[in-house]
Amino acid sequence: MNKIRISLKTILFTCIIFCILSPKPQESDKTCIVYLSRTNNTKAVAEMIQQEVGGDLIPVELQNPYPADYNAIVKQVSEENESGFLPPLKIKLELDKYNTIFLGFPTWGMQLPPPVKSFLNDNNLTGKTVIPFNTHGGYGLGSSLRTIGKLCPNSTILEVFSIKGGIERDGVYLYIKEDRAVEVKSEVKNWLQKIGMLR
Ligand SMILES: Cc1cc2nc3c(=O)[nH]c(=O)nc-3n(C[C@H](O)[C@H](O)[C@H](O)COP(=O)(O)O)c2cc1C
Repeated sequence: MNKIRISLKTILFTCIIFCILSPKPQESDKTCIVYLSRTNNTKAVAEMIQQEVGGDLIPVELQNPYPADYNAIVKQVSEENESGFLPPLKIKLELDKYNTIFLGFPTWGMQLPPPVKSFLNDNNLTGKTVIPFNTHGGYGLGSSLRTIGKLCPNSTILEVFSIKGGIERDGVYLYIKEDRAVEVKSEVKNWLQKIGMLR
């Protein structure tokens, strides 16, 4: 009986020491999902990623929102791309606690949208893992990935996920819904598996 009591004490003691000494997850082990979305296709993908891997969802918002009219935003974005203007964002994000950053954006004018350039310009992502994802109107990523590479020279950039979303020009806004959302969800899961992000 005494022997059993001693070994129970030993087990308890070992457990306590193990709990004290075992490494705790660091604050910086956290994941966030930063995304720009106008008609919610990229947002739909961001939410699917969050459902699979967790993390904080962070929308990129502008101090001065773009016009609602499609032709007006196309003109403004084209001028911003031409001049290199970086539209100011609503808030400065606190990214220190994150070491994995999913970065979602639509293709605009076959480029990375100016607000996402602003985000990468405002935040130093050195040493962090950046995981791009994208929706587009059928023409792909354009030069977006090259720009991300240039603006995050000291980050580890994992394989992008890119998929067709809406075509606002033709009045197709949120396209990633219902049956299409089921398909996209499965593709998102396969991609997360491939890049080693699934728990
Ligand atoms: C200003 C603007 C420019 C766009 N330029 C392109 C483009 O060059 N190529 C493309 O395939 N789609 C383009 N699109 C379509 C969007 O990439 C597509 O609808 C995307 O799914 C929208 O994502 P969101 O719903 O998250 O805003 C453009 C849309 C807007 C509003």
